[in-house]
Amino acid sequence: MYDVLVVGELNVDIILNRIDGFPEVGKEKLSKDLRVVLGSSSAIFASNLATLGAQVAFVGKIGKDQFGQLVETSLKQKGVGTQFLVHTNDHQTGATVVLNYDMDRAMVTYPGAMEHLTEKEVRNDILTEARHLHVSSVFLQPNLKKNLVQLMERAKSFGLTTSLDPQWDPAEQWDLNLQELLPVVDVFLPNRSELKHLTKTNSVHHGIDAIKDFANIVAVKDGENGAILYHDGETIRKPAYLNKEVADCIGAGDSFDAGFISQYIQGKDLQTCLDFANLVGAVNTTEAGGTAAFQDLNKVKSIAKERFSFSI
Ligand SMILES: Nc1ncnc2c1ncn2[C@@H]1O[C@H](COP(=O)(O)OP(=O)(O)O)[C@@H](O)[C@H]1O
Ligand SMILES: [Mg+2]
Repeated sequence: MYDVLVVGELNVDIILNRIDGFPEVGKEKLSKDLRVVLGSSSAIFASNLATLGAQVAFVGKIGKDQFGQLVETSLKQKGVGTQFLVHTNDHQTGATVVLNYDMDRAMVTYPGAMEHLTEKEVRNDILTEARHLHVSSVFLQPNLKKNLVQLMERAKSFGLTTSLDPQWDPAEQWDLNLQELLPVVDVFLPNRSELKHLTKTNSVHHGIDAIKDFANIVAVKDGENGAILYHDGETIRKPAYLNKEVADCIGAGDSFDAGFISQYIQGKDLQTCLDFANLVGAVNTTEAGGTAAFQDLNKVKSIAKERFSFSI
């Protein structure tokens, strides 16, 4: 039995560092450092939630290729259950080429297999192995998105609680029927900008107003300002555990989600969930990338203590 089943996108990141100039069509540049690692914000969420002590399994679609093997091995190393991964012959595993220039990055993504995961492939016998379902990155998974309401309904019919991080829409269409979807989502976890786009409003306040009649718990990530939670007519704001020496913010939102859900599944009150989410988001920002600060629970505990005076 798993605490949390994560349904999300899976890809490798091919990261080129120390590149001598910008790419130009018809020319060749050299990079002095290459890393091929597990990418995907759903994978960061799953890995860090496992490090925080939850039993986590993943449902995602990968190709029967070497990148797929890398994804699977990396998830296993992080303690995430991989037996429900869907392997396909029809598409290659997704990959993102990341060109790193100091603090800025240029990225090109081939979504591949992730685009083809369907709601049906998250079978009932998989759902019944978990207590909570977390879905992330819906705009990268159009086939899943089509029947997302049915997936959430099915999970709830088996007694699971549910959460959703919509993540960014690369097409910037923001086509998601929140009125239909949010009643079957227990915890909705957009960031500030995603909430505004999804609700076609110009502030978090108005965004929450637009969904409060049919949403359950809404936790909005607001970068270095912390987060805002709405539930049952009440709004809670919590400032961030401000990190003035940020390594980078890659994965901060996913780690925030992991912190929140790690407490939520233990039945903790919403103040505690939100506070811990902010802490885990802050811990994420102390090292480069989304998982470096989460090698093991002791490391997380010591960062929390030394950098943010927080005892886990
Ligand atoms: N500079 C920072 N110091 C401390 N915590 C931060 C900082 N930036 C982000 N966080 C934490 O990470 C969370 C998620 O960041 P945010 O950038 O809003 O999400 P996303 O990664 O989804 O865009 C924030 O709500 C906050 O708790
Ligand atoms: Mg995010």
